[in-house]
Amino acid sequence: MWEVGVIGATGYTGLTLISILKSHPHIKINLVTSNTYKGKRISEVFPLLRGIFDETLVPTDQDHRGRCDVFFLCLPHGKSMDEADHLYDNKSIIIDLSADFRFEDIGIYEKAYLKHRAAHLIPHAVFGLPELYRDRIKNSKLIGNPGCYPTSAILALYPLIKNNLIEGNVFIDSKSGVSGAGREAKLGSLFCEVSEGFRPYNIGIHRHEPEIQKEVKKYQDIGIRFVPHLLPMNRGILTTVYGRLKQPIDTENTIALYAKTYKDEPFIRIMEPGIYPDTRFVRFSNYCDIGLKTFDDGSFVIVSAIDNLVKGASGQAVQNMNVALGIHETTALTGLPQYP
Ligand SMILES: NC(=O)c1ccc[n+]([C@@H]2O[C@H](COP(=O)([O-])OP(=O)(O)OC[C@H]3O[C@@H](n4cnc5c(N)ncnc54)[C@H](OP(=O)(O)O)[C@@H]3O)[C@@H](O)[C@H]2O)c1
Repeated sequence: MWEVGVIGATGYTGLTLISILKSHPHIKINLVTSNTYKGKRISEVFPLLRGIFDETLVPTDQDHRGRCDVFFLCLPHGKSMDEADHLYDNKSIIIDLSADFRFEDIGIYEKAYLKHRAAHLIPHAVFGLPELYRDRIKNSKLIGNPGCYPTSAILALYPLIKNNLIEGNVFIDSKSGVSGAGREAKLGSLFCEVSEGFRPYNIGIHRHEPEIQKEVKKYQDIGIRFVPHLLPMNRGILTTVYGRLKQPIDTENTIALYAKTYKDEPFIRIMEPGIYPDTRFVRFSNYCDIGLKTFDDGSFVIVSAIDNLVKGASGQAVQNMNVALGIHETTALTGLPQYP
């Protein structure tokens, strides 16, 4: 049994991690933390856990060094870097769900976020997208779990950029459920601000744009434009990517390329021609569904769907943990999507 700590257990990603890890046969959760609810049982914060997981929350701002084999940091960016700096000992595995260790280039991080206070750890960090970086994750003690939008966009683009097939810029049009903003109270997440409407936000300035861009550029030197939207639903991301191929490839052959690229990937499902992803069919699961259509003039539309809290956050974090610990990658992650 490996002992695991969830630092910042009272948010949406923390709860999702606990839900997944409770069914993990090789894991015992021995630490859950919160500053706001310290001393309370986590089942008082999340009554769905009553009688199943009643661990008492201890303060996040305490010394937890060496207490766990794996620490998940479910904290806001900025706070995670301090916590990682405190915990990092090259023995425990640290998986950070914030943006603090997703960027190899500190300049890009600092332009999009804030001054990094644990820059000396960045060379030790791996971008935790197993489909692209599995071999590096295997040996890592510090994993920067990707953002939810970047997961959906990079997985949608990877077979094309890996083969250098795109001409010009691509437009990435993403729609997210409101849990993407976390559980902390914010004006923009209030029911009346979200329900009965649908809007883009942060066009050209969203912090996930540089994260997607730096990954795309590792494979093909093209530009991206990212437009996120907020949808009046609890969870899920649907991403549609528009662009043009250097040479037209028909839909069947493009789908065959995707199927070949992802043939050994347990969580990527490629749809047949004419079938497109739907957030309803990945809810509460670690799957990323991808469908696409190409046109005679070379233009293409690729659509991906994930659950932002599972493949976009905590499920992917457990997938990374499994890889890093050398246990079967799908352990505790094979639950069916929940529908309706
Ligand atoms: N939501 C998503 O879909 C999603 C997807 C991918 C990545 N992420 C990233 O994952 C991280 C967690 O997101 P979330 O959605 O779980 O957020 P959340 O629901 O707002 O929860 C945030 C957690 O961080 C703790 N916290 C907040 N400010 C803190 C501070 N100054 N010091 C110590 N603890 C603090 C809170 O604990 P207290 O009980 O002490 O207040 C809470 O447990 C964020 O970096 C987010 O960007 C989220």
